[in-house]
Amino acid sequence: DGTEPFTAAVITMSDKGSLGLREDKSGPAMETALLEAGFRVIEKQILPDEKERLKKELIRLSDQRQVDLILTSGGTGFSERDTTPEATLEVMTRNAPGIAEAIRYESMKYTKRAMLSRGVSVIREKTLIVNLPGSPKAVKESMEIILDSVIHGLGILK
Ligand code: MTE
Repeated sequence: DGTEPFTAAVITMSDKGSLGLREDKSGPAMETALLEAGFRVIEKQILPDEKERLKKELIRLSDQRQVDLILTSGGTGFSERDTTPEATLEVMTRNAPGIAEAIRYESMKYTKRAMLSRGVSVIREKTLIVNLPGSPKAVKESMEIILDSVIHGLGILK
């Protein structure tokens, strides 16, 4: 009825992060931006770059926990272990490409390397899933670009 805050889950995709070999700064960057925008962040995770692991979490968070928004960070580039977009596409029920398009388009003014992110944005039933690039800088820039419109979209999805 518009009084309950939207819920969100954040997943950092990082082999090193999942082993504790690198401090995760992207997870907290996603969380901070979400909290400032009024979301309730109900889960935070760091996963290794493994497609099946991510698919399983995306399915659980959307079907069981019925979270409104899932943000992932990392695993969107060209290296062999970057499989975040593939995992995300494999769980979608409807495509929502405009969010990923906006991230790439608007990010080009920060770095031309933005064109190398293969991140996607999709809907699984009533959950919106958005892939962000891995660096904390890219996370902050991307959140600034999408958050206002994402909130509007979530209102329609609910
Ligand atoms: N987008 C923004 N807004 N800012 C950035 O610094 N870095 C780019 C791109 N998108 C970047 C960005 C770089 S250098 C790469 S390689 C790709 O995201 C993929 O990043 P990932 O493999 O960490 O997901």
